[in-house]
Amino acid sequence: MKISIIATSHRKNSESKRVSKILNNFILEVNSSVKCFNLDMFELNIPLWTSEKKDNLNFWDRKLKNISSELTASDGFIFVVPEYGGMATPNSKNFFLVFNNGELFHKPGLIVSISSGNGGAYPISELRASSYKNSHIMWIPENIIIRNVEQFLPGNHGKLIPSWIDNRIKYSCDLLIKYAEYIKPIQKFINRKDFGNGM
Ligand SMILES: Cc1cc2nc3c(=O)[nH]c(=O)nc-3n(C[C@H](O)[C@H](O)[C@H](O)COP(=O)(O)O)c2cc1C
Repeated sequence: MKISIIATSHRKNSESKRVSKILNNFILEVNSSVKCFNLDMFELNIPLWTSEKKDNLNFWDRKLKNISSELTASDGFIFVVPEYGGMATPNSKNFFLVFNNGELFHKPGLIVSISSGNGGAYPISELRASSYKNSHIMWIPENIIIRNVEQFLPGNHGKLIPSWIDNRIKYSCDLLIKYAEYIKPIQKFINRKDFGNGM
C-alpha cells in the first residue's frame, strides 16, 4: 500500500510542506506498513502544463516519467491545498493537467485544505467540483480543513487549534487507506482507454 502526499503551495518552505510531513507521520501511526511518496509541487519545480514540451525536455521527457511512475504505483492520494484568493492554488489544478496518464484512475483521494486564518472551504468545493472528470480520482466523503495552520503542531498546538483535530485527521487517513484497499479490485475490471475522459 502506497499513499502519495502532494503539497500544492507556490511557496518555499511552505505550510503545505510542513503539514505534509505531519500527515506522513499520522499515516505511519495509523498503519506502519504504508509507504508514502511526498511530492512538493513548488520544490520540484513542476511547470505549468504547456503544449511546448520541447522547450523543457528535462521535465517533460525525464522528470515527469519518474514522478508519474511513483504516482501510478500509489493506491491513494492526499492533496494539501492552501486557500489563495478564495480559490484552490494554481498548482493543485495544474497537477491534474500535468499528470494525466491514468495515475489517479479510480483511486481514492483525501483533500486537506489549509488557511492561515478562518478560510479553507473554497479549495475543497473547487476540487470536488472540477478535478475528477478526466483524472477519475475518487474523492472520499471526508475532508480536513486546518485553520490557523501556523498554530498547527501536534503535541504542542496553539490556542486556536481544536483539541479534536488530530483524531479527526487520523480517522480520515485510516478511511483513505481502507478505501484504497477496497477500491483496488475495481481497477482491473476497467479498461481506461474505453472512456479515458469523463463526459
Ligand atoms: C497569494 C495568497 C493568497 C491567499 N489568500 C487567502 C485566502 O483567500 N483565504 C485564506 O484563508 N488564506 C489566504 N492566504 C493565506 C494562506 O492560506 C496561508 O498563507 C497558508 O499558510 C499558505 O500555505 P502555504 O504556505 O502552503 O503556501 C493567502 C496566501 C497567499 C500567499
